[in-house]
Amino acid sequence: MAVFVNGVIFEGVDTAAPDCWRLEAYMARGGYQALKKILDSKIPQEDVIAEVKNSGLRGRGGAGFPTGLKWSFMPRSFPGDKYVVCNTDEGEPGTFKDRDIIRYNPHALIEGMIIAGYAMSAKAGYNYIHGEIFEAYELFEEALDEARKAGLLGQNILGTDFSFDLFAHHGYGAYICGEETALLESLEGKKGQPRFKPPFPASFGLYGKPTTINNTESFASVPFIIRDGAQKFLEAGKPNNGGTKLFSVSGHVNRPGNYEIPLGTPFATLLEMAGGMKDGKKLKAVIPGGSSAPVLPGEVMMELTMDYDSISKAGSMLGSGAVIVMNDDVCMVRALERLAYFYHEESCGQCTPCREGTGWLYKVIHRIANGEGRDGDLELLESVGNNMAGRTVCALADAAVFPVRSFTKHFRNEFEYLIKHKKPLVDHKWC
Ligand SMILES: Cc1cc2nc3c(=O)[nH]c(=O)nc-3n(C[C@H](O)[C@H](O)[C@H](O)COP(=O)(O)O)c2cc1C
Ligand code: SF4
Repeated sequence: MAVFVNGVIFEGVDTAAPDCWRLEAYMARGGYQALKKILDSKIPQEDVIAEVKNSGLRGRGGAGFPTGLKWSFMPRSFPGDKYVVCNTDEGEPGTFKDRDIIRYNPHALIEGMIIAGYAMSAKAGYNYIHGEIFEAYELFEEALDEARKAGLLGQNILGTDFSFDLFAHHGYGAYICGEETALLESLEGKKGQPRFKPPFPASFGLYGKPTTINNTESFASVPFIIRDGAQKFLEAGKPNNGGTKLFSVSGHVNRPGNYEIPLGTPFATLLEMAGGMKDGKKLKAVIPGGSSAPVLPGEVMMELTMDYDSISKAGSMLGSGAVIVMNDDVCMVRALERLAYFYHEESCGQCTPCREGTGWLYKVIHRIANGEGRDGDLELLESVGNNMAGRTVCALADAAVFPVRSFTKHFRNEFEYLIKHKKPLVDHKWC
């Protein structure tokens, strides 16, 4: 299913070649040159961080927080252990890019994490991999082994006085373990529940030590930035939205898959790359950044470019870059019911507004979808959502509310019709 267009991570990667993930193939593509450049020239840590800042790289895990700025929060001179942690939990519905980075180009991630360790004085790193992609975890272990044997990991890397080791860890597939502090708890062997913040991981992270957590794609973008320069990365995208980005396109398109394209590419171009609408159907709606991102009507999306600022201006989020395309056969009430069930299932139950609220959202949407909706149900959904968003330990509650607000805003007529007529305006043929 994977389809790749060359960008900073997949440049020159022949995904059809069985050994494309191996160290030898990565080296042939210019791999580990960035690390060598840093170590040979003894580039100061602050210069490495400045380069990442200047590249305009924004976190690819969901929030789009500037990566270089996050790295600068790490107290490098703090005595004792410090860690870098990679988030390959990839549980956001619609997202399937990080597993393909590991499958086809794991050394880009390993090199990015070693550079991060160097820049932030961390002596160890961990990659937390989603439990349901076990083969990716096994492959990553093999890639780590290759790196260790080549002297790229461990003590005195490439004969210098810099030492750093990296370990893989697999979870069991709970969505909440993608939230960074739940991930840390799980990595420590505890129940994966988010921590209260502050303190943030930069001061109290893994085992209570300073820790920087980034998404797989964020780390894997770093070798290009260091090797080819921040400016080249920035110019591959647009101002404040540096680089290329992987978009996992799914739904009613002819060629679902991962597309690595410059940030700022028109959505219409991405849709065309994905083969256009399946069976020539009409585009109805798009979730542009994973299930937590507010849905947008198709005609709005057709005017937008795929970057953080443009999507956010239109009232949604680029999020993880998971683009879910829906045609006009989709009953938006049923679609929302599916999403609401997911959040209800995945709430860790720690906070009352989320534990109870996700259940209420699901129950009310479920009854509307089944022709048992009542007058006042849309207002009830709004009121439950208002009592959840921003009132919990982590952002899962907000993630559950955003789809409800956006579906009932943009496709309100379908909800009203179902409540009034007890049958859907659009047959839900697809579910
Ligand atoms: C409920 C929830 C699930 C999340 N799942 C993921 C995930 O699967 N992968 C990920 O990288 N970030 C996920 N995040 C965001 C992380 O908490 C964190 O912001 C991110 O890993 C930071 O990396 P970045 O700055 O490189 O984007 C999730 C956040 C929440 C609230
Ligand atoms: S918001 Fe939900 S998922 Fe997050 S900590 Fe609270 S109960 Fe758990």
